[in-house]
Amino acid sequence: MKLPLVDLATEARTLRGQLLPAITRTLRKADFILGEEVALFEGDFARFCKSRFAVSVANGTDALTIALLSCGIAAGDEVITTASTFVGTVSAIARIGAIPVLVDIRPDTYTLDVSQLKRRIRKKTRAIIPVHLYGQSAEMGPLLQIGRSYGLKVIEDACQAHGSTYKKKAGLPTEALAKVGESRAENWHRRSRHHLALVLPSRRNFLRPRRIALVPAGRG
Ligand SMILES: Cc1ncc(COP(=O)(O)O)c(C=O)c1O
Repeated sequence: MKLPLVDLATEARTLRGQLLPAITRTLRKADFILGEEVALFEGDFARFCKSRFAVSVANGTDALTIALLSCGIAAGDEVITTASTFVGTVSAIARIGAIPVLVDIRPDTYTLDVSQLKRRIRKKTRAIIPVHLYGQSAEMGPLLQIGRSYGLKVIEDACQAHGSTYKKKAGLPTEALAKVGESRAENWHRRSRHHLALVLPSRRNFLRPRRIALVPAGRG
């Protein structure tokens, strides 16, 4: 039996009734970049994620790149992530000249094995990107603790986990994980999530003025 890698046609057929009115409105207004529909989407998506903010960008790789830049990560810095993820996670790190450092995965969840994290932290380590893969959350509790104690930024790649929750059943605070590229406030000294929400919109067009990295970088 031949299985297609991705079947977007079925999804488009199912959602056609909801998509067409929005596409028609956009065409009518020729509102092709940002604009009202995007603002409406951002409001809906923030509510869906139980988040105060949602800032949309062109794609997941851009979201991660912009989040890294917004956290002050620069060329030569080391960023730890998981050895098993979509290429976009690693290419976002490489795209800004930072060095990806890979940690192996857990055999049960396929997410970053936090027990192996500390030994990969070195002088140049600045950030960790856990990836919530196949809808499963990385072990955010212990991971954030390590991030905090080493003063590292933690940026969640939730490209595959919109709507996922963390430890909901254990009665711990439920975390909406659909925060693609949103950096957590916990480890930030001066910046807060609110600040990031203000900074991100001004950076989403960053590729044009800075003329950087116009290479295919893990685009789906
Ligand atoms: C885990 C993960 N990270 C990053 C990306 C990159 O997203 P995009 O293809 O929209 O650039 C993807 C895309 O599927 C992904 O699955």
